[in-house]
This record gives sequence, structure tokens and C-alpha cells, in this order.
Amino acid sequence: MIRVDRVSIGGVLGDALGEVVFVELTTPESALLARDSARLHEAERELAKSFPAAARRDAFLAGRLAVHAALADAGDSRAHRMPVLRDARGKPQASWGDAPALSIAHTRIRAVAAVSRNRACRALGVDVEEIAANRAEALLRMAISADERRLLAEVDPALLAGPIALWCAREACVKAHALDVGWFGSALRVASIEPVAARMPDAEASWDIAVRFESRPEMLAHAWQANGAAFAVTGR
Ligand SMILES: CC(C)(COP(=O)(O)OP(=O)(O)OC[C@H]1O[C@@H](n2cnc3c(N)ncnc32)[C@H](O)[C@@H]1OP(=O)(O)O)[C@@H](O)C(=O)NCCC(=O)NCCS
Repeated sequence: MIRVDRVSIGGVLGDALGEVVFVELTTPESALLARDSARLHEAERELAKSFPAAARRDAFLAGRLAVHAALADAGDSRAHRMPVLRDARGKPQASWGDAPALSIAHTRIRAVAAVSRNRACRALGVDVEEIAANRAEALLRMAISADERRLLAEVDPALLAGPIALWCAREACVKAHALDVGWFGSALRVASIEPVAARMPDAEASWDIAVRFESRPEMLAHAWQANGAAFAVTGR
């Protein structure tokens, strides 16, 4: 299934991002992907072949289908015949000039893409993770500090969706701000987590998360929980 939402995040972050088109593609089965990806540009299909693992190829194709759907909804008239390639670090890159800011993320059962409709937005970062107790526990054990755990306990006493949303917020910042972080991103510190009103149509819980990295100005990400997954978006 594919869904398309146009969302204004609001607040300071919303000013930078403007209206954002979110596309979510769920349970993209290999057979369907093989059929649908025939519509992708040949260069994108060639890039997919460079991944040895079938699951990674499928994730790449699902991400490209999602980003093209988002670009079409955002009104980019060239996206349907031009490929979204990648730079040396793996960042998705439109092969035409003046493309809107975009970002892609995937799990084993879904792919998401975000495209800003604000031409002044320079970069977007989106992330998604499936919510699972063992994943939350691993993050709490290995990648979340005692201070961050205290912040999380105030907004999510079960410590389930919250730790995963925190991780997504960090990953979204890495993507949007082109950060070079160490293993587990422990150099990225979450300074605050504020529950906020839902901005996404199906959000079950939503948070604004402030993230610090070295001496850079504080970054703000919006994160939410919906349909068994945690999501985050940020930009500049
Ligand atoms: C780049 C990174 C953020 C990708 O995250 P991931 O969880 O591996 O994978 P996701 O599904 O979230 O995202 C993958 C997509 O991100 C995009 N991406 C990859 N590298 C990117 C980069 N340097 N900048 C922006 N986007 C990038 C691509 O579109 C990729 O999908 P594709 O290759 O199919 O096009 C991650 O690999 C990374 O380097 N993280 C930093 C290290 C770390 O430990 N972080 C912890 C939190 S700070």
C-alpha cells in the first residue's frame, strides 16, 4: 500500500521545512516491487543491482518508488523521467538541478520518503524504525545515556516507542545536517523531548526532540509513533 500525506510540521522547524510531502510504502513484496520498479529510471535499476543482498535491493527500489511518488506530489515536473542517484556517502541525489530537498529511509517492511515543498529548504532528513521491545532495550543499553533515559522515562514510562523515536531523531539529524558521527552516534546528545500535538494524520504520540552535536547550533527534529513504527524528520 502507498499513502501520501502533505504535512506542515509547525513551529521553527516548520518554517524551515515548509509543507512536506510524506510517502509511505508498506510491505513492498518482492514480486510487486519487481513489477513496479520497471517504471524506475534504468540508472536507478542499475544502482539497485549493485547491492548483493536481495533485501537491500528491494529496500532501495521501494525507497526510490516512494521518493518519486513524493516528488510527483510536490509538483517536480522532471522527477518522472530523471533518476535519483546517490553521492559517495550514500545520500540520495537528484540528477537534475534545482530539485527540492528530499530524504529516504526504510525498514524491512516499509519505505518512507519526504520532499519539502519549500524551495528555501536546503536539506531534509527522515528516518523510520519498527517498534520492538528488543530494539528499544538494545538502544537503552548501548546508545542512550542516563540523562537521555531520564528524559525518555518522563514522556514514555514504558520506554518502548520513546527510545526508538529518539534514535530516529538522531538519524534524521545525521542525514539532514550531513554529520560525521561515531559508532552508535553517542556524540549526538538529546537535550530535550517535548510531547506535542499530532502533526501527522495517524500519529499516536508526537514529540519535538532537541539534539546537540559538538559545538553546532541545537538541531530540532519532529518524531512520532504510528502503525507500529517510529518516524522522525528534520531539516534546514
Ligand atoms: C546514513 C545513515 C543515517 C542511514 O541510516 P540507516 O538506518 O542505515 O538506514 P535508513 O533506512 O534510515 O536510511 C537509508 C537511506 O538513507 C539515505 N542515506 C544514506 N546515507 C546518507 C547520508 N550520508 N546522508 C543522507 N541520507 C543518506 C539513503 O537514501 C539510504 O537509502 P538508499 O541507499 O536505499 O537510498 C546511517 O547509516 C549512519 O551512517 N548513521 C550514523 C552512525 C550512527 O551510529 N548513527 C546513530 C544515530 S546518530
